[in-house]
Amino acid sequence: MANRGGFSSKLGFIMAAAGSAVGLGNIWGFPYEVGQGGGAAFVVIYLLFCFILCFPVMVTEIAIGRKSQKNAVGAFDYLGFKKWNIVGKMGILCGVLILSFYNVIAGWAFGYIFEMAVGNFDIANHFSEFIVDVFKVGAYGFVFMATTAYVVSKGISGGIEKAAKLLMPTLLFLIVSLVIYSLTLENAMAGVKFYLVPDFSELNGKVIYNAMGQAFFSLSLGMGALITYGSYVGKNDNIVSSAALITLTDVGIALIAGLMIFPLIGYMTEGAMTDVGRGPALIFVTLPQIFGTIGGTLGAVVGTTFFILLCFAALTSTVSLLEVPVSYIVDEKNIKRSKAVWLVAGLIYLIGIPSLLGNGYSEFFSNFITYVGAESATDFLSFVGHVANDTLLPLGGCLIAFFAGHVWKKANLDEELAQGAPGYKGSFIQKYLNFAVSYLSPIVLGTLFVLTVLGTFFGINLI
Ligand code: TRP
Repeated sequence: MANRGGFSSKLGFIMAAAGSAVGLGNIWGFPYEVGQGGGAAFVVIYLLFCFILCFPVMVTEIAIGRKSQKNAVGAFDYLGFKKWNIVGKMGILCGVLILSFYNVIAGWAFGYIFEMAVGNFDIANHFSEFIVDVFKVGAYGFVFMATTAYVVSKGISGGIEKAAKLLMPTLLFLIVSLVIYSLTLENAMAGVKFYLVPDFSELNGKVIYNAMGQAFFSLSLGMGALITYGSYVGKNDNIVSSAALITLTDVGIALIAGLMIFPLIGYMTEGAMTDVGRGPALIFVTLPQIFGTIGGTLGAVVGTTFFILLCFAALTSTVSLLEVPVSYIVDEKNIKRSKAVWLVAGLIYLIGIPSLLGNGYSEFFSNFITYVGAESATDFLSFVGHVANDTLLPLGGCLIAFFAGHVWKKANLDEELAQGAPGYKGSFIQKYLNFAVSYLSPIVLGTLFVLTVLGTFFGINLI
């Protein structure tokens, strides 16, 4: 078998996995979910889910990967449960779907770098025209996908790890600079208050459901991305402490992203915080308006910096999404990495075209499907998001945890986690992980899956 390569160090792995986790989900998704979910109460629930529910699944994925040294499908075969490799296959499908639309959005963010650089803040009023210009945004997406493919083609230590080691510290520097700047603005504190002082009367089933999905997606769980990355981890590295650092980084960056965005909104709304609940438009409409209010060269610099930051975050995530199918093909089909990468990336770009066209350009893809009981149609990009993020990911996570707890068995999981972690056995964390992996995570994630299927696709809203 060809040499699969691997991360050069524990730190390299942590950076790459944190890079996978930190993405559009943190800097775009998290703040708008907070805005829609009533602010700090959402944040509290989100944090609980990350540590109590998601962290155990992360540990499990990495352990399965490292034990087997295989891709998301081959890992189940290696452990002796060939039937279960359907979970890995579902994960690969899911990765392909997510990357297909994620790249479209990353392309928008990439295009916005240039709009901000020339001071075109008026784009805030023309976002819907911007995304209808499919040849232009399609080209931006093409460049983004090609960059992703280039990184993955260079392999694990020479590509994925190297890119993460460059992009992640830069990202941290940029985001902290923007936080400091936005905190100096007038009415910044109104934003901070909205963001950090919880009002639990805002909580309801829907907010909790969203917080759960957001946490799971943000940590890149449920589709074997971390099985794949785990397969490149050294046998002497401590999985539990690595996973803790990855979770902390992801949560930390999401929290910092809120600290960057809400003061800006406080500034623009003169403390009224009226414009926070706008959902996805937050980044592409509200923020450019704010950069326009700052105005001039400073506005352009802040705006450009923000979208560069967003693209860096997205790139380390698209890289991880592409690596999942690539690793499968390299391991199982014996195709050379360089060839597999360009093939898969090209294919995923094509699969993404309906998501590109469905934002006003093509009537058919813009009103692609009307769910049972829904009043209006859903566009293709959102549809794929509902299938992949909201349905397949929680199902995958539920099955992966159940598999580790009851099929592969806890003792084997423990054995793998104890490697490189003296003192793990018998610890409180071991007992907690065993409980969560066997019962808590599968039950909660299974519930999330059922709620999505019933609520989104069949109009039966239990929450
Ligand atoms: N976590 C990334 C984000 O927040 C997206 C992502 C990358 C992802 N790889 C994944 C999500 C694997 C789920 C599974 O933007």
